[in-house]
Amino acid sequence: MDRPQPADGTPDRLCVVGLGKLGTPIAACLAARGFAVRGVDADGDKVEDIRAGRAPVYEPGLQGLLAEADGRLQATTDLEAAVADSEVTYIVVPTPSEADGGFSLRYVLEACDAIGRGMGRHAYHLVVLTSTVMPGSTRGPVRLALEAASGKTCGQDFGLCYSPEFVALGTVIRDFLEPDFVLIGESDARAGDVLASVERRARRNDPPLVRMGVESAELAKLAVNTFITTKITFANMLARLCEAFPGADTDAVSAVLGLDSRIGGKYLRGAISYGGPCFPRDNRALARVAESVGVPGNLPEATDQFNRWQLAWLADRVAGLAGAGQTVGVLGLSYKPGSDVVEEAPGTWLAGELAGRGFPVIAFDPAANGAAAAVLPASVELAPASAECVARADLVIVATPWPEFRDIPSAVWGRERRARVVVDCWRLVPDLAEVDGVRYLPLGRSWG
Ligand SMILES: NC(=O)c1ccc[n+]([C@@H]2O[C@H](COP(=O)([O-])OP(=O)(O)OC[C@H]3O[C@@H](n4cnc5c(N)ncnc54)[C@H](O)[C@@H]3O)[C@@H](O)[C@H]2O)c1
Repeated sequence: MDRPQPADGTPDRLCVVGLGKLGTPIAACLAARGFAVRGVDADGDKVEDIRAGRAPVYEPGLQGLLAEADGRLQATTDLEAAVADSEVTYIVVPTPSEADGGFSLRYVLEACDAIGRGMGRHAYHLVVLTSTVMPGSTRGPVRLALEAASGKTCGQDFGLCYSPEFVALGTVIRDFLEPDFVLIGESDARAGDVLASVERRARRNDPPLVRMGVESAELAKLAVNTFITTKITFANMLARLCEAFPGADTDAVSAVLGLDSRIGGKYLRGAISYGGPCFPRDNRALARVAESVGVPGNLPEATDQFNRWQLAWLADRVAGLAGAGQTVGVLGLSYKPGSDVVEEAPGTWLAGELAGRGFPVIAFDPAANGAAAAVLPASVELAPASAECVARADLVIVATPWPEFRDIPSAVWGRERRARVVVDCWRLVPDLAEVDGVRYLPLGRSWG
């Protein structure tokens, strides 16, 4: 990778706390861009993995990037010492959702305690909060925890930024290196200046650096994800409408919306529900924030509700198509291609739901069989390959649009006697409409 040289005064020594699905790719990207990076995790296994050059999380391209980091990424469990050795510290630890829809700061505040102690030895240190937090957290509890542990004052002895990433698992590396923009919420101008100098060197495509106060940045993070969930859900609603009008095609309708420059074409592929570790919870959090300040939160709430209904509707529909005792095959258990995450993943939910309704279920995912096994009932069988999943099922749901499902030979899909039913949520394998022995039912078009 092309490595830019630091401009005069740009910090060179960075610390990344939390080497998970987001933190490890960030640390590896920063190291590959030439920074000296200390990666810190409380989990010794992740630290050992990185020391051994192994990617501790599943992310396409990460293994190669770790090799490229070439000694510039040092992993440790000693947060205080790593911060003491660095000029800038990124916090990328979990902020789990709470029952009321908000996010817990438990891990962030724990990290702040050690960060505060570590930065106590510096004339100036910048802390960058990347974890998703509720608005008000950065200038509130996070700043207070850092000040208490360091004995220093924010805006004077140290800077604090809220700078979330707008990345998608599966494409984290490209999304980090070539983002549409970098959002910098700053406690004060000096903090923003320091982070901007790091970001100019860290990103490959010279993106706009959008600077604002921390509260605006906190709201913007939730607003972006909630706007996308609303867009996805609108497209999913259109797909349902198209099914009710024989001859209508959801892809044709969505294409029109996409051509209108006020709307744009991304995330309009009417299909199954959205899932994963960010969209559902960020959407619910924005509803919670709205309600907490007396603003109606029913717009994001309706999105969340439709998203759940959509899955229940699909489960009912499949249950109505499959005869008693017939085996249901689920292709795709991760919430999106290129990821092994099954959190709120539609395929995993459907597999569990249909097994709960008494259907024999066989499922397969190119990356997420292991993660799904940990959360699915034992009655759900996990196939070792997509072809076996198809061959053993009477009805197959294509739940995640992994491109390799297109490569399953048509001879595997076709069947003698009673046709195999294929519910294709993504219209991923449209050629199946022509295959003998398949009853092809694409979501978003009338099933006749
Ligand atoms: N995964 C994504 O796509 C994504 C995208 C945008 C934002 N985020 C946000 O980023 C944050 C991290 O998400 P993730 O998916 O990487 O989480 P993760 O669970 O995959 O990883 C978090 C890591 O932090 C470590 N950790 C926890 N407490 C620690 C401490 N005190 N010191 C050192 N290490 C500690 C854990 O051991 C774990 O390895 C969350 O707030 C999440 O909402 C994630």
